[in-house]
Amino acid sequence: MEALIGVLAGDGIGPEVTAEAVRVLEAVAARYGHRFDFRAGLIGGAAIDATGSAFPPGTRLLCAEAHAVLLGAVGGPRWSSPDAPVRPEQGLLDMRAAMGVYANLRPVVTHPALYASSPLREARLAGVDILVIRELTGGIYFGRKERTADSATDVCTYSRAEIERVLRMAGRLALQRRRKITSIDKANVLDTSRLWRAIAGELLPREFPQVQVEHLLVDAAAMHLLSRAADFDVLVTENMFGDILTDEASMLTGSLGMLPSAALGDGLRGLYEPIHGSAPDIAGMAKANPCGAILSAAMLLRHSLGLEPEAEAVEKAVFEAIEAGHRTADIALPGARPVSTHAMGDAVLRGLKPH
Ligand code: IPM
Ligand code: MG
Repeated sequence: MEALIGVLAGDGIGPEVTAEAVRVLEAVAARYGHRFDFRAGLIGGAAIDATGSAFPPGTRLLCAEAHAVLLGAVGGPRWSSPDAPVRPEQGLLDMRAAMGVYANLRPVVTHPALYASSPLREARLAGVDILVIRELTGGIYFGRKERTADSATDVCTYSRAEIERVLRMAGRLALQRRRKITSIDKANVLDTSRLWRAIAGELLPREFPQVQVEHLLVDAAAMHLLSRAADFDVLVTENMFGDILTDEASMLTGSLGMLPSAALGDGLRGLYEPIHGSAPDIAGMAKANPCGAILSAAMLLRHSLGLEPEAEAVEKAVFEAIEAGHRTADIALPGARPVSTHAMGDAVLRGLKPH
């Protein structure tokens, strides 16, 4: 197949991890006879430096034309002063909204080879296979903001339509899994959450009667993710809760650097990015773990291009490389020398050679 893939490396470790993900996609194209055209674009701080805008028109156009977009990370201290007129993160939010990718799929799966890298005991990690679906284009991230010297406001709004479409996505995906959805909210305090819970409680049983549904308050969910993660199948929640819970859940898998994500809307076009940030503290040091970016490329193959065997081959190559002991610093075993970002990519590529 032929596909145009937008590549937005962004800031900090973004370019380093994205380069490895692109190498993996090139290897997939060679091995399976596809043609992927990669077109680079600017986003975040890099875009602010070059154009003054965090999501410039050229990038907007690329996002509209590409079959899928691969993103590294945005942000960094250089662009984060309290009075900065534009922030890199706003570029990412504008891009998510422009692409209409309202559902962010964040799979959290544990692997025995990484148990030792998690701060949690093995007994809590075995059999964890969760799909978090984070609403991505609404809520407090997109509400009206106000700031004076002595007060600040961030408005959280959700419409019925916004809640319904992400719940439907959760329902459809749950049917392909263990058919269990946990809807997470703060309905004891927030009106947006009361609306969310009412719609979930009515829509899911009506449209997906085969799926078991439970509701959990977000504070309790944060705890249950550590005490009984293996019980969960699909988690669905609003934008900010999903942001916070997935950083927490990443520690089940051993490292924030391991987690991929796919942001999808109603069509096939998607935005794929590791859930980690730009990690300015280790940028340019060849230390970053590219697995989250490479696994995001696997999700791109699966969700936007419909290439399931290719996606599985990439995932298998990643975990075989880790099992064979190729591990960046964040997941290195005690006493073992960590590999560089590029060497981690090499180890994955060895599992993807053309046959
Ligand atoms: C994420 C990130 C972003 C978010 C930031 C960089 C705006 O934390 O993708 O999880 O909060 O959505
Ligand atoms: Mg986050």
